This record gives sequence, structure tokens and C-alpha cells, in this order.
Amino acid sequence: MSSAAAPSGPAALVTLRAPRLPLLHALGAAADLGRYFDWRQRRAGDPFLVGFPAFGSAVFTGTPEGARELFRAPVELLVPPLPNPIEPMVGPASLILSRGTRHRQDRALLAPAFHRKRISAYGSVIRDAARAELEGGRTGTAWLPGTRVDARAAARAITLRVILAAVFGIDEPRRLREYTVATTEFLHSFGGPLFLVPALRRTMFGLTGWERFTAARDRLDELIDSEIVRRRGDARSGDASDILALLLGARYEDGGALEDADLREQLRTLLVAGHETTATSLVWALYRLHREPAVLARLRAELDEAGADLDPAELAALPYLDAVCQETLRLHPPVPIVLRRLTGDFALRGAPLVAGDTMGVSIQLLHSHPGVWPAPHEFRPERFLERRYSPFEFAPYGGGHRRCVGAALADYELRIVLAALVSSVRLRLSPRFARGRVPLTVPHNIATGPHAAITFDVSEP
Ligand code: HEM
Repeated sequence: MSSAAAPSGPAALVTLRAPRLPLLHALGAAADLGRYFDWRQRRAGDPFLVGFPAFGSAVFTGTPEGARELFRAPVELLVPPLPNPIEPMVGPASLILSRGTRHRQDRALLAPAFHRKRISAYGSVIRDAARAELEGGRTGTAWLPGTRVDARAAARAITLRVILAAVFGIDEPRRLREYTVATTEFLHSFGGPLFLVPALRRTMFGLTGWERFTAARDRLDELIDSEIVRRRGDARSGDASDILALLLGARYEDGGALEDADLREQLRTLLVAGHETTATSLVWALYRLHREPAVLARLRAELDEAGADLDPAELAALPYLDAVCQETLRLHPPVPIVLRRLTGDFALRGAPLVAGDTMGVSIQLLHSHPGVWPAPHEFRPERFLERRYSPFEFAPYGGGHRRCVGAALADYELRIVLAALVSSVRLRLSPRFARGRVPLTVPHNIATGPHAAITFDVSEP
């Protein structure tokens, strides 16, 4: 980056001002990332520079013009920023971290497993996962009148079940339990401090959080490795329709297959990327719907009219349900920033950048840009029925050559689970959440989510 000093060059170039007192900025961002970015953009204009001690700096944009430039930048100039805090979870071979030819080839191998046509095979798995949770599932609380349910715990249980079924084809209760325990321990042992402070990743006689995390990762890897070996040795496993079966059969352009160690990291990546993101969106959707009775009533009317026996694919295409899910992702994008590191010169909205600089889109700012979204802080699904938005105005799944590979699965899952929950039970937000300020958005592993567990009281139908 040409630093805080006025860059030399054409007059159109923009001067970026580095934040003074970066530690204070880091504290502000840690307290509420969304509000911090909003404040920073208002103060410094767009694009703006954000810099925190230990994380370095990045130039951000929150405008459709900036998003267009970033998502359309020449692919050969872009790599993911490394080191990346999620590397210990996903591994260096992960699609999220790979670059260049390797990224292009691995993406070509993984993407067909997430194609819309394939995803439709998971419709009944998704509906069953939602129904199982309504009956008590993993959280152990059936959604009966008079009970209080923790939406985050329930949503996590549902999305974990879906991702385990989609990736490994697991639905047999004993194996499901085994995988659920291993995956949950793995995902939840890598919390805030370990994520943010690499210096804490050290060993001390098995007593540190880092050692608990690596032990949980080893246990999950053992399960994944034995599954890979079992599938490779079972001639009939080629008939399976899950993602692992597809990846075992997939071949690079030169005829080679994914090596087992790399396959294991891609599978771990899918568990990490596909679980918390979707769970968080479900929680926000339930929260927003129950703060807006008119929206909830309109959604219920659409679902009632469609009938209980609707095929999941038809259900997922209902227009108001679709609008509710899009509006949720607009107001609460679970991945609030996307980043690219440059390998050569590039200008982002007139700001001159050089090799090694990092640039990003603040999805949250993009989704509240006043030129595109009237009353941006209101939950108004109708806006998605009134007009179509470009991929540079609405980008909850990022964009360009790294756009989320699981977007179709996430969209499908959100719609089917939300419909199952809303049409099966009557909920009331617990008094603490029913009025007043919207909960803060804080980091949860790879995604962000509400700072508190949002609870609902199940009422009589
Ligand atoms: C509501 C749910 C989800 C949201 C909001 C979301 C969002 C995102 C975003 C913003 C990115 C970065 C895109 C970019 O850099 O331009 C991403 C990447 C990715 N997502 Fe998702 N995601 C979701 C669900 C899923 C699911 C269900 C899976 C798979 C099971 C998944 C797998 C991935 C992978 C593998 C990448 C890396 C793609 C690459 O670098 O080529 N995501 N996601």
C-alpha cells in the first residue's frame, strides 16, 4: 500500500489515511466489527484503510463499484492472505487457502459435488434433520409448548447433521453420534484467543488449549482417514451419492486423484465452512421473523397455501421464503469480509496498491449501501421481490473465482429448515430479545454470529 502519505501519480489517485492509535481501533473492531467498519468508512471515505497490531493492514471498500473491481480483478493477481487464522483448522491444502493453478484444479474437482442438481438429492436429509431436532434431537429438548429452546444449539445440531450426511453419507445413529462428538469437539476447541493470537499455540504437558485442539483434530482425522480407507476398499461405495464418494471418484485433468492427506483437509474444510455459517443464518432468520409479526404472518400464509407435502425442491423455490432468506443474509452476512492479497500492482477505487498489499470488501457495508438499499437497517424481505440485485450489490457468498462453493447447498438448507421450523411450531422470542437492541455480532470460528444464545419459548399452536 502506498501508506498514509499522499501517493505520487495521477491526480485521480486516492490518499489512504492509516488509523492513528491502532490498538484502540483493534479494540473497537473486536467489540463490534460492523459498527467499527461503518464508523471507519464514514470518517475516512471509501476505500479506507484498516490496520490492527499483529494483523497488518488492508484497504477496504463497501461500495458496489469497489466490489465489482475486486471481484473482477485479474485472477493471476490474487491470492488468499497468509498466514490465515483458520489454517490450523482447515490445513494448508484447503480450498480456502490454496492459490493459482492448485486452487483452480481443486475447485474444478470440488464444485460438481455442490452443483444445484446434485444438491436437490439432499432435500429429504435436510427436512429429516430439522424434524429430528424438533423432536429433541441432539439438544435433548423437544419443541413442545411451554419449553424454552436455544436457537443456536438447535441450528448447530441441524446443520451439523446435514453436513455429515451430505459429506460422508452418515445417518446411522451410532456413527452419527461418533462423528457429531468428534466434529463438535474439534470445532469448539478452536475459540477466540487461539484464533486471534498465534503465540498461544504452544504445548505444555497436554495442558494448553492448543493441545486440546490438536488432540480433537487428531480424533476427527482418525475417523476421516478410516472412512477414506473403508470407502476405497468397498467396491459398492462408488454408488453412494455423498460428497466423499464424488471426491474419491473425481480426477484432475491429467487423470490423477486427490491424495488422501489433501482429501482429508478438503473434507475438514467443508465441515468448518458449511456448519457455523448456515447455523448462524438460521438463528438470525428466526430472530428477525419473530421481531416482525407481519413478515412472519406473510411467510406462514405462503407455507400454509403451499401445503405440508410439498416436495423440498418446490418448497425452496417459494418466492417469499426465498426473499426472507436473502434479506437475512443481507442484514446479517455470516462472513462479513472477503479478502484478497495482491501479487502485482492494482488500483482499488483509485487507491494505488502494490504486490503484497491486501484488499477486501466489507459485505456488511455493501449490504447497507444507501444508494442501493433504502432503509438499510430494516428487515424488509419485500425488497427482494421488487427488484433484482447484481452480484456486486448483494454478495453474502463473496464473488469472483473464490465465490463460496457451497452457496447452493446453504441456500437450499436455509429454506427447507426455516420452512420446517416455522410451519411446525409457534415460537415467541424470550422477553430479553423480543424488544430493544439487536444483539451484537461477534466472531464464531470462521463466521460471525449473535453474541448471546437467542432463546425462544414454544407456545400453543
Ligand atoms: C450461509 C452459509 C454460507 C455463507 C454465508 C458462506 C460464505 C462464504 C464466503 C463469503 C466465502 C468467501 C468467498 C470469497 O472469498 O469471495 C466462502 C467461501 C467458501 N465456502 Fe462458504 N458460505 C456458506 C456456506 C458454505 C457451505 C455449506 C459450504 C460447504 C459445505 C461452504 C464452503 C466454502 C468453501 C470451500 C469456500 C472457499 C471457496 C474458494 O476459496 O474457492 N460454504 N463462503
